[in-house]
Amino acid sequence: MSPKKKTTKKATKTVKKTKAVKTVAKKPALKSAVLKPRVKKTAKAPQLLRGMRDILPADQNYWDFIYDTTRELARDFNYGRIETPLLEETNLFVRAVGKDTDIVQKEMYTFQDIGGETITLRPEATASIARSYVTHGMLNQPQPVKFWYWGPMFRHERPQSGRYRQFFQFGFEALGEESPVLDAQLIMIANDFFKDMNLPITVQINSLGTPESRLAFKTELVSYYRSRRGQLCDDCKKRLNKNPLRLLDCKDEGCRGLRNEAPQIIDWLDEDSKNHFMKVLEALDEADVPYVLNPFLVRGLDYYTRTVFEIWPEGDDDEARQNALGGGGRYDLLVEMLGGRPTPAAGFAIGVERVITYLRSAEAKVPAVEKPEIFFAQLGEQARVKALALFEDFRKARIPLAEAFSKDSLKAQLEIANKLGAKYTLILGQKEVLDGTILIRDMEAGIQEIVDQKKIVREVEKKIGKSAAG
Ligand code: HAM
Repeated sequence: MSPKKKTTKKATKTVKKTKAVKTVAKKPALKSAVLKPRVKKTAKAPQLLRGMRDILPADQNYWDFIYDTTRELARDFNYGRIETPLLEETNLFVRAVGKDTDIVQKEMYTFQDIGGETITLRPEATASIARSYVTHGMLNQPQPVKFWYWGPMFRHERPQSGRYRQFFQFGFEALGEESPVLDAQLIMIANDFFKDMNLPITVQINSLGTPESRLAFKTELVSYYRSRRGQLCDDCKKRLNKNPLRLLDCKDEGCRGLRNEAPQIIDWLDEDSKNHFMKVLEALDEADVPYVLNPFLVRGLDYYTRTVFEIWPEGDDDEARQNALGGGGRYDLLVEMLGGRPTPAAGFAIGVERVITYLRSAEAKVPAVEKPEIFFAQLGEQARVKALALFEDFRKARIPLAEAFSKDSLKAQLEIANKLGAKYTLILGQKEVLDGTILIRDMEAGIQEIVDQKKIVREVEKKIGKSAAG
């Protein structure tokens, strides 16, 4: 049997089946069963998980504004877009972020997949990007390789203002470059972003040196705090052994009082790190990027070496620190830690939700999402079908249309058009379908014109052009 014949037979079968259903559907009892399938009610409607949010259309102007600004910056500074998976081997983050960090100890969404592999929803993207650099042998490309990214991160934190369990970050990372000018360029990009947003910020900056110099500093720090153990908060007593640097950014008042007299990391830097840091600061001065030297800034991830920085909203220190808009720094050893060749690198990430909160509280002007200027109203079954074809003509001309296909009455549709602020409403009724015409109603003036359906797209183009010009 030829394939063609086979198809015909199948098609006939389908037709027969459809007919059978139609005949049965005429019986009223079954008809209602077909139209209203019973929904089994469960006890409780599904809820949003704690710390997760829906991002609704009404908020999209903020998201678009931030995304568009980021993409333009990436283009201006020649950073290429990278997307890495949301799921990675757990071990990647344990090795990169550090096994004693809060992220790895308390905040990761880690589970076994069906295959029995232990995997983690990414809590941040730098580790994945360093992994990707190694996976794809990017060492062989011209260095530095520059990336930017945008996407959701997951941390099982205690939900509180500005802290979500799924949140978005965008970030810039440059791998394969040691020059302090790169650190300064990254800080400049972050600073430019906030200039473009019209939001006042401060760049907080410090240097953490090398693992060796940091070790010497840690020993000194631990001995300083050990002799004052009684004055530390419970968390810091635990941190003293596991992660002593974090004592420097504890919020507790007692711990705060102690840190002013504590040894400062800057005094423990090796000569090369000190020089590197001075050059970063010089480059920032040269580029007119203001910064605040912050000896207590240590960051919460272990991969950093040398420069670290954070972007804080301008204002009271404590609150600003709590609402850090972004952070980053150098991570010269990360690629090697993940099995690659020695590759100096640096980058930063900004929290999108935090930027939005700041934009809102600063009542910043954010461009509105473009709304369709044209509403398409239809009357009757035939008009509704015809409307679909006309929609496609408008789509090809890239003219967005609003509609309300579920509404039958013209009054209801005009009301919606008014609410949406449409400038013109196209009206297609039974008569127009037969005539091959369509009405254009100027919503403000209340005047209607009859137009040939074939010319409607051109006509609307002219009208929008006219209204846009004046
Ligand atoms: P991070 O400081 O952990 O750094 O996060 C960067 C920014 O993400 C924070 O300053 C904050 O705005 C936002 N953020 C973090 N956690 C949350 C949360 N739970 N809810 C809402 N926003 C949050 C990193 O992630 C590094 N990967 C940055 C980096 C890139 N370093 C080098 N390259």
